Amino acid sequence: MSSYILLTGGAGYIGSHTALCLLRAGYNVISFDNFSNSSAESLKRVEQLAGRTLLSITGDIRDQAALTAVFSQYKISAVVHFAGLKAVGESTELPLHYYDNNVSGTVTLCRVMRHFNVKKLVFSSSATVYGDAKEVPIKETSPRSATNPYGQSKLMIELILEDLVKAEPDWSIALLRYFNPVGADESGQIGEDPNGIPNNLMPFISQVAVGKRQQLSVFGNDYPTKDGTGVRDYIHVVDLANGHLKALQYLEQSKGIEAINLGTGVGYSVLDMVNAFSEVNQVAVPYQIAPRRPGDIAVCYAEPTKALTLLGWKTEKTLDDMVRDTWRWQKHNPNGYRS
Ligand code: NAD
Ligand code: UFG
Repeated sequence: MSSYILLTGGAGYIGSHTALCLLRAGYNVISFDNFSNSSAESLKRVEQLAGRTLLSITGDIRDQAALTAVFSQYKISAVVHFAGLKAVGESTELPLHYYDNNVSGTVTLCRVMRHFNVKKLVFSSSATVYGDAKEVPIKETSPRSATNPYGQSKLMIELILEDLVKAEPDWSIALLRYFNPVGADESGQIGEDPNGIPNNLMPFISQVAVGKRQQLSVFGNDYPTKDGTGVRDYIHVVDLANGHLKALQYLEQSKGIEAINLGTGVGYSVLDMVNAFSEVNQVAVPYQIAPRRPGDIAVCYAEPTKALTLLGWKTEKTLDDMVRDTWRWQKHNPNGYRS
């Protein structure tokens, strides 16, 4: 009986790129997704790009019976857990929905994994668990805090998984703390497909460039940074996907739980991103300076050496790759997967 890697939320932005990476590396993949923020089209394109099929199962991670059916039918060797809601603003309006989906969903998933003695888990955590870090670059040992229900849900899940490993040391868990994922597969066939008005910088820039939105609002130019705009650690989603492959390989030969930053270690400002996008792609990105966005921090970038030491992983893509690949996806799919 062949074994599978189960990707919860496999149809989403990071999940679809990771599915492609794993298929290319020879793994069998099952995606388990309720399509609350994605479409099945992403997985069809992943199959075309990989030249291999995957199993796509429609289901919700809060549905214990549905998960049990998957684990009963297929031999699962490890789970990469992407499924979750991720909009910070929405999470402040719908906290119960966020805690239920993200935290309860994870508890249900772990309960089923435990029942079937599947104890290898890669979890999508976030740099948001560092809150407003006092020191950059941010190390994994930096204190954790959260300022909104989304961030709180990621922090709570980290704590739950730590308690689980304390109680049952035979689990192997990687808490991957992503910095700011951007970009798309270089084919331009899969990419980020936000619903409605994008919250994040890169999709907003590319929708302005393609003419769907008039101009970008740059949220604040009075931060203590080189040009006054916010600085982040943007990481190409293909590098990020590869980090999951390395994490799975690492879990093959280690027990316990490790938190690992996935970032480049380099920070770029909002204006760096706007300028790179327009210069590399030869396209205009009109913008205006707007007030700061509540809850935003000035600077955030990773200390990425733990990922290199533990996983043998580091980023390979450049800023030019990030903006070029984002644009290729946007240009060819102006309305995302509905194009
Ligand atoms: P995404 O919304 O594109 O993907 C998440 C997927 O999970 C979607 O396909 C959605 O339909 C599915 N999903 C949500 N709730 C579900 C449920 N209850 N049951 C089954 N499927 C469900 O988001 P993404 O950008 O690919 O993010 C993946 C993970 O990484 C998320 O957990 C997110 O919080 C985390 N993360 C993302 C970022 C980022 O900026 N994109 C940064 C840090 C961490
Ligand atoms: N920004 C703008 N205009 C926009 C959108 C963003 O100027 O229209 C700026 C922000 O002020 C910030 C930078 O661009 O300085 C990046 O903003 P994003 O919204 O793209 O990303 P954040 O760093 O704010 O948030 C991301 C994820 C969150 C996660 C957080 C910390 O979206 O889920 O990183 O890891 F919590």
